[in-house]
Amino acid sequence: MYVRKNQRDLTRTERRRYVAAVLELKRTGVYDRFVRTHIEYYTADGDTGLRVAHMGPSFLPWHRRFLLDFERALRKVDPSVSVPYWDWTRDNSPSSSIWGEDFMGGNGRRGDLQVMTGPFAYRNGNWDINVGVTDVEFLTRDFGRPHQPVSLPTARDLARAEADPVYDAAPWNSVATEGFRNKLEGWGQGTGVERWRNHNRVHRWVSGLMLGGGSVNDPVFWLHHSFVDLVWSRWQRRNPSARYLPAESSSRNASGSRAVGREQRMPPWNVTPASLWDHSGIYRYQS
Ligand code: CU
Ligand code: CU
Repeated sequence: MYVRKNQRDLTRTERRRYVAAVLELKRTGVYDRFVRTHIEYYTADGDTGLRVAHMGPSFLPWHRRFLLDFERALRKVDPSVSVPYWDWTRDNSPSSSIWGEDFMGGNGRRGDLQVMTGPFAYRNGNWDINVGVTDVEFLTRDFGRPHQPVSLPTARDLARAEADPVYDAAPWNSVATEGFRNKLEGWGQGTGVERWRNHNRVHRWVSGLMLGGGSVNDPVFWLHHSFVDLVWSRWQRRNPSARYLPAESSSRNASGSRAVGREQRMPPWNVTPASLWDHSGIYRYQS
């Protein structure tokens, strides 16, 4: 059993070791395999087949397992490392320490949005974008998207999601208006920036490569999803009798896609949402 810490509490040494382990996975090509997997599973409501990683109830267990795989790879490089979490309700400014030169690096520059500082800046030679959905070869960010402003979710925004005691609800996709899962995943109604809530809104706020299927190319992806997983974990503790829903795979929607049921296999692994419900034997979160 190991601990996942708040990134703001890491010592300078812990920050350095985490970054070094990530860079080592990048150097050996392991990192880019994670990018590729995420792109492959970036499906939407309208796609056919199983909606396994996004826009469906298995969004949370799928990313829990995805993080565990990444963490296992990191810990092979350095057993002292785990994936820290970024509480974006608290560290919500471009000057927060998460964006420091010794950690995630800062915002992209004007024009091409290229990140120029930190270990993941292209110009420092260790972070080429090899697998993406666009041709960009450097890490990009555009904090708050000034041309279409969006703010990070607040503690109140998050509390609204956490207050829902039911895990998920029909139609089990991005238009579900009830259920904890979509309120946290964050597909909202309407137009404008209100469409993006909680988890989705954070991808939007960082912007650049954090948008879309290639978001794993930004190493802050893992810290963001570590916090999303923490929020789920906290919700599970507050709702001890809650269970993953739906129990059975949902029926196909108009375009033929289905949600993953509780005991159904969740590709690319041979695991079920039920088997990922309880993480307490593997890691815990330090508050
Ligand atoms: Cu994802
Ligand atoms: Cu995400």
